[in-house]
Amino acid sequence: MKKAIIGGTGVYEGGAPLRQEQVETAFGTVEMDVVALPSGEEVAFLARHGKGHSVPPHRINYRANLKALQQLGVEQVLATAAVGSLNANLPPSALVLVEDFLDATRQRPLTFFEGEDGNVQHVGMEEPYCPGLRAQVLSQARRSGEHVAESGVYVCTEGPRFETAAEIRMYRNWGADVVGMTNVPEVVLARELGLCYATLCLVVNMATGIEKSPITSEEINRVLGDCRDRATRLFLNTLAQPAPPRTCGCGRAAMKL
Ligand code: HPA
Repeated sequence: MKKAIIGGTGVYEGGAPLRQEQVETAFGTVEMDVVALPSGEEVAFLARHGKGHSVPPHRINYRANLKALQQLGVEQVLATAAVGSLNANLPPSALVLVEDFLDATRQRPLTFFEGEDGNVQHVGMEEPYCPGLRAQVLSQARRSGEHVAESGVYVCTEGPRFETAAEIRMYRNWGADVVGMTNVPEVVLARELGLCYATLCLVVNMATGIEKSPITSEEINRVLGDCRDRATRLFLNTLAQPAPPRTCGCGRAAMKL
């Protein structure tokens, strides 16, 4: 299987599954669905928080998830992520294909490169999200008339609490457009494994303090209901297109010094 979708909050399935897959990795066992594209090609569908949203962002086994996809032979990963917006041009219901990130996490395992056997590796971050995969999503969005913001900076917080208004002012000054709790270390680990990876953010609320009204679960769930189907359709239609030749550097991002 060469393609996978990681569904974030609210995105728990990619259509009727053909079957379930259980993958044993050195980091733990990962369960996922396998769904089919119209061509019959199989795609792995992994619910990041588990079906029914049972794993909080700081407890997700990111290393097991990414390793399991790699073990299945996956090369391209499209992920969704529910986010709050710090940018008035990205209101609730906006879809944003982020192109860079800021890491404000604190205590997660953040790498596969733990230095075992003196094996020290670093990974380049010029283009954390695969430019080829991003281009495929954007061209499918254009074809289907779906509006997707072409860039944005994601700041990842530790969670599970939401941010304070002061933190959001600081992140805005740092240059963040959207805030979420899961994209780090997911994007980093994908890159360490040489996978092509892109994240489509679903704006489900304005971040704390950006608007006077407080964030509510009712608002988030209402907006998610709209974004979920648009994002899933966009991903499945993107993956149904023949993949152009791989010209990105994602497979060679890790370096040994
Ligand atoms: N902050 C952090 N994560 C989020 C938010 C937010 O406002 N909305 C959805 N995920």
